[in-house]
Amino acid sequence: MLSATSTSAPTSAPTIPPEDYARFCDFFYRKTGILFGANKSYFVERRLQERMASTRSESFRDYFTMVRFQASGEEMQSLVNAMTVNETYFYREDYQFDALVQHLLPEIARTRRPSDPIRLWSMPCSTGEEPYSIAMQILENWSQADEYSVEILASDIDSRVIAEARQGLYSARALHRLSPALRNRYFTAIGENFRICAELRGSIDFSVVNVTEPLAMRRFRHLDVIFCRNMLIYFDDTSRRQAVEALYESLRPGGYICLGHSESMSRISSMFRPRKFGATILYQRPVDND
Ligand SMILES: C[S@@+](CC[C@H](N)C(=O)[O-])C[C@H]1O[C@@H](n2cnc3c(N)ncnc32)[C@H](O)[C@@H]1O
Repeated sequence: MLSATSTSAPTSAPTIPPEDYARFCDFFYRKTGILFGANKSYFVERRLQERMASTRSESFRDYFTMVRFQASGEEMQSLVNAMTVNETYFYREDYQFDALVQHLLPEIARTRRPSDPIRLWSMPCSTGEEPYSIAMQILENWSQADEYSVEILASDIDSRVIAEARQGLYSARALHRLSPALRNRYFTAIGENFRICAELRGSIDFSVVNVTEPLAMRRFRHLDVIFCRNMLIYFDDTSRRQAVEALYESLRPGGYICLGHSESMSRISSMFRPRKFGATILYQRPVDND
């Protein structure tokens, strides 16, 4: 039950009793892999409060019962959307995009006929800046882009960010790392915002996917490169291992996974072979006879 007093929060935000907070965090962790420690209680409680107000729930326990048993799963999705951290921007950690066009794509292309698809997956993609950056990088910097059928898939657990990614409307802040040339070529100014061109919007296959749901993950197979950046930092070691094992199954033998700069495979899994490309280490699924 939520009360009007708080001992740990910096303002007068209501708190939930520790045993309910622990039950909620355990439930949310099992559903998403995201682990909220005690230091996140203010963030979590504020968002729970907002969801309770939106659903006119009278108590935390009423709300929690609805989340768990609602047949449509609609409130669970709204809760996930409220709890995720979606910070991203164009050309974030772009040294990996350089490695993609300078090393990975040429290596993959050598084993393919021109008509064969090359499949890339931005998982998680948040509001779309990452997959759109990949598309721009390939069009601008891979001379063989026209010879191959490059498919870019992009997914996230948060249905709100996927809707925004499909819209492709961004603030100037999201574009701060783009050169004026890229900005002019791929965006149209709309008031203070920028809309990415229809060709790029139509070229990315966006979907809502939870990396911890085996059934959903089974739809994603034969990927050549997966960008899984800045999500595992919200997981614990157990859910990190489950996630990378699922992503391993999604990769072709010889395929690569790219992690965020503060994420490393070394403590998570020994299934991948680390490979250094310039300033970055990427992780390769060994080919079967390696
Ligand atoms: C900080 S963003 C990273 C976006 C982008 N990859 C980047 O590096 O800029 C983290 C994203 O992970 C997503 N996420 C968290 N848990 C997830 C899960 N279990 N399955 C899929 N996406 C998840 C969140 O919704 C959020 O959009």
